[in-house]
This record gives sequence, C-alpha cells and structure tokens, in this order.
Amino acid sequence: MLTTKEAIEKRRSIRRYKPDSIPYEHIEEILDSARLAPSGCNAQPWRFKIVTEEDVKVKLAQSAFNQSFIAAAPVVIVCCADIKGYLEGTVSGIQDLGNIGAVEDRIVSTIKDRASALETAGISELGPRIAANVAIAIEHIVLRAMDFGIGSCWVRLFDEQKMNLKTAVENNKL
Ligand SMILES: Cc1cc2nc3c(=O)[nH]c(=O)nc-3n(C[C@H](O)[C@H](O)[C@H](O)COP(=O)(O)O)c2cc1C
Repeated sequence: MLTTKEAIEKRRSIRRYKPDSIPYEHIEEILDSARLAPSGCNAQPWRFKIVTEEDVKVKLAQSAFNQSFIAAAPVVIVCCADIKGYLEGTVSGIQDLGNIGAVEDRIVSTIKDRASALETAGISELGPRIAANVAIAIEHIVLRAMDFGIGSCWVRLFDEQKMNLKTAVENNKL
C-alpha cells in the first residue's frame, strides 16, 4: 500500500492500458474513496457511471475528440455532477452544520435562501460551484486506484453535445 506522499509523487496520467479486466471489488473500493471526499455542506453532488461496454467506450472516445486511449481502457468512469442533489444536499448539510453549532443560525438561513435562489440558475452559474466538489472526489479515485496498480487519466477534453451525455446518463442509457 502506498503512502499518500508516495501516491502523490508517483501519480502520472496513464494513456496506455493493459487489457486485463478490473475486479469489481476494486471498483467498489475506488468508488468508496470518492464517496468519502469532502464537499461543501456535505452535499456530495458527484455521480459516477462505470462503463465497460466496448461500444459505449468507443462513443465516449469519439466524443472526446477521438482520444482513442479512452476506448482502450478496461474501465471508463464518467464523472457527473447532480445539480438537484447539490442544491438539496446543501440545504440539508447546512442545517446539520447549524445543529452541531458549527455555523450560526443566520448563516444557515442565508445559505438555505441562496440554495433556493439558485434553483433557477443555469449551468454557467452552478457549474463552477459544483465542479470543485466533484473534482476532489475524482482525484480520490485517481489516487486510490493506484493502490490496486491501476493507472488513469483525467479527460476533460470532451464534447458533451456530441454524445448528448446528460440525456444518456439521466435516462440510464449509458
Ligand atoms: C481537469 C483535467 C482535464 C484533463 N483532460 C485531459 C484530456 O482530455 N486528455 C488527456 O489526455 N489528458 C487530460 N488531462 C491530463 C493532463 O494532461 C495531465 O494531468 C498533465 O499533462 C500533467 O501530467 P501528469 O498527470 O502525468 O502529471 C487532464 C487533467 C485534468 C486535471
């Protein structure tokens, strides 16, 4: 098992993969490390889709401007943000922080008001707020995967419109 220091120092973006499949228990452990990531108001707005189907991986690679290494990976984790979950989680999370006295009641009310005001906000406003939370969880995944000898690479160069990823995830079609 690597120390945190070793994992941080050894981590590299890996773009060539062995064809070996990854045991499901390892995927579960890796996802559990994402679950344990910190998030604002403990909203935990991340959602992850595990993709192993060849045809879906190919589509993902094509939508990522033909970064073919994506299709060659035994597992692709599509990392999503749940906007509704973020707003709901923020409201219940700030209440929890109020209940333990970590924040004053007036702050609880302010954050709750802000969350309900944000319900009508678009992705351009909400995206950056949620992205930080999801990014931390993703890096947990990257580092924990190394404990199982699994290399990975972040991919942001992706055209969501091309694959209509949002609709595919929402309709469980991925
Ligand atoms: C938010 C983010 C998006 C990235 N997107 C891509 C990508 O689309 N394709 C890719 O090959 N690498 C991508 N990378 C990996 C970076 O290119 C890589 O982290 C950087 O070159 C430093 O190399 P290292 O990770 O090996 O230290 C991304 C990294 C981050 C953090």
